[in-house]
Amino acid sequence: MKVLGIETSCDETSVAVIEENSVLSNIISSQEVHAQFGGVVPELASRAHIRLMMPIVKRALQETGATITDMQGLAVTYGPGLVGALLVGLNFAKGVSQATGKPFIGVNHMEGHIYGNLLSQKTVNFPIIFLIVSGGHTMLVKMDDHLKYKLLGRTRDDAVGEAFDKGAKLLGLGYPGGPAIDRLAAEGDPDFFNFPRAHLKNDPFGFSYSGLKTALLVYLKDKTEAYIQSNLNHICAAYQQAAVEILVKKTILAARKFNIRQIAIAGGVAANSRLRKWLSEEAGQKNMKVYLPEPKYCTDNAAMIARAGYEYLKRGMESPNTLNTYPALELQSIAD
Ligand SMILES: Nc1ncnc2c1ncn2[C@@H]1O[C@H](COP(=O)(O)OP(=O)(O)OP(=O)(O)O)[C@@H](O)[C@H]1O
Ligand SMILES: [Mg+2]
Repeated sequence: MKVLGIETSCDETSVAVIEENSVLSNIISSQEVHAQFGGVVPELASRAHIRLMMPIVKRALQETGATITDMQGLAVTYGPGLVGALLVGLNFAKGVSQATGKPFIGVNHMEGHIYGNLLSQKTVNFPIIFLIVSGGHTMLVKMDDHLKYKLLGRTRDDAVGEAFDKGAKLLGLGYPGGPAIDRLAAEGDPDFFNFPRAHLKNDPFGFSYSGLKTALLVYLKDKTEAYIQSNLNHICAAYQQAAVEILVKKTILAARKFNIRQIAIAGGVAANSRLRKWLSEEAGQKNMKVYLPEPKYCTDNAAMIARAGYEYLKRGMESPNTLNTYPALELQSIAD
């Protein structure tokens, strides 16, 4: 059962073809136009998606030797994300569906991130405590089975990916900043400075990351450029340590509270080497199994959307052609 996946929720135009758990093609075009602005410009993102959509669909199909008629159906992101960007992918999928009679299913982008992890596993056991960490989201979810989720907690302000990006911007490291901080931190001392950790005692599975970025701003204020440059590795390591420690502690806490032995991470920040190592060590000590996604399926890609869509299509589910985009779409479970 082949599925064509389409992802246009932000600044990656991506199209993939999967067959069950095998990725036959996964083309990702990251829009470079935003780099000069230090963040994504929604209007430019939509226009770039329009320009890139057809050539990328053609390439994704060509790489597999398949045509649209070989597809069981299409899976497309319909939220959360930038409304103008989402509309490009959704309307493209609707058009193809109308023209070919193939069903299409709207997929929640965050559910896509979850399936970006599951796509990377040979076998999975449920339930799983899922830590979803990306540019716009930070949440803990209890996943009881395929397509069944319970939200345990989320960030009340910035997402952890945003904390990485904003921190990197303050340090002059460009956008997106997560990979740069990760790379520089590898050679630094994580105990160089003690940045704050927001524990939120009354909200054990909630997160707050706006204070961390402010703490870096305050820390840098009285430092000379020469001092910052000569200690850049250490500053990155200490900043990353504070960001990651909370993620690891709360994920383990959730697994213990619900007596769950499987934990998993998803989203762009799941590529972070410190998070992957630390969580694996903690889980190993507690005899828990950790599912890590392949780094290429952490940040936005259409293979993860196709994989999530496959779960719906194989159950005979499809979306109506009146489906709209939802910029703030919440993770939903299928009915029992
Ligand atoms: N190695 C890394 N370490 C830390 N952060 C990283 C790393 N690689 C990527 N990131 C971060 O991941 C984020 C991008 O992830 P993703 O593509 O999932 O976000 P998004 O799609 O913009 O947001 P969302 O999925 O919430 O809509 C960026 O904030 C980026 O800095
Ligand atoms: Mg994403």
